[in-house]
Amino acid sequence: MILVTGATGLNGKELLRRLSARGVAVRALVRNPAKAGAIAALPQVEIVQGDMARPETLTAALRDVDRAMLISSSDPMMLDVQSNFIDAAGKAGVKHIVKLSGIMPELDSAFRFARMHGEIEKRLEASGMAFTHLRAGEFMAAYFRQVPAIVAKGAMFLPMDDARIASIDVGDIADIAADVLTSSGHEGKTYPLTGPEALTMTQVAEKLSAATGKTIRYVNVPPEAARQAQLAAGMPPYLADALFELFAERRNGKEAKVWPDAGALLARPPTSFDEFARRNASVFRGEAPPPQV
Ligand SMILES: NC(=O)c1ccc[n+]([C@@H]2O[C@H](COP(=O)([O-])OP(=O)(O)OC[C@H]3O[C@@H](n4cnc5c(N)ncnc54)[C@H](OP(=O)(O)O)[C@@H]3O)[C@@H](O)[C@H]2O)c1
Repeated sequence: MILVTGATGLNGKELLRRLSARGVAVRALVRNPAKAGAIAALPQVEIVQGDMARPETLTAALRDVDRAMLISSSDPMMLDVQSNFIDAAGKAGVKHIVKLSGIMPELDSAFRFARMHGEIEKRLEASGMAFTHLRAGEFMAAYFRQVPAIVAKGAMFLPMDDARIASIDVGDIADIAADVLTSSGHEGKTYPLTGPEALTMTQVAEKLSAATGKTIRYVNVPPEAARQAQLAAGMPPYLADALFELFAERRNGKEAKVWPDAGALLARPPTSFDEFARRNASVFRGEAPPPQV
């Protein structure tokens, strides 16, 4: 049995769709069954309720599980929640955990979630279970957060200067995760996953303009102004501070490298930003609701 955590989130849902389409029986860990509607309707998907913040609730979810996909939210609990899951999975006899990690999980990173991913990776490596780290770069879906500004002002406002970033399509991560969970040879491996090109925000805006047929500009904003705008929009201070740290790393070029691993694992070129923008042109024109990010 395969268990997918983070099952109601961006990556978890995509992964469940792929495993279901391949006819693989899979269990989805869901903390709030009211959110499970779309995935519960997928063939071969069994929903089990549990909260990784409360390991005692994971017994049913972990019964007879051989392999698990570990995903949770970028929030203050991420380190505790994922550590709990690793400990509970080890006790339950899980053999292999595939972890969705960050592209730069350094223990001394200036970005708090990178440090947490680094600690979680180390805990998993020391657990005695097999592990595979999927170190993902920025999700292309992150640009859906820019849709309100694009629709209202024809611009995306980001504190990126002229730094480049090699973002990846969540569908590619899901294809790779589905392969890793259903085949062998990935034990003990770490895969940095990016898209096929590192783009400046000016190039991202040009690609969104070409796909939508509308002029979309990139406006560079000072980091502190970006943080104040997020706070004014209601973002919790913890997350606004985390993004402040993240964009400082990005401006330093920390996510500018294009890695070959995604293409090698997919046996095809990873999805380009042009393809992503074309596929979601109606979202960026404001004609379809942005998928949740
Ligand atoms: N954003 C990026 O560009 C990026 C890039 C690389 C890596 N990452 C990493 O990717 C991960 C997030 O992935 P995502 O965007 O696919 O997730 P997401 O859409 O934020 O969803 C998080 C999922 O985790 C579940 N979850 C959180 N806490 C839980 C708990 N205590 N027990 C059970 N389930 C819990 C959530 O359940 P509910 O629906 O109940 O909340 C939800 O299903 C983070 O670790 C982040 O650091 C992000």
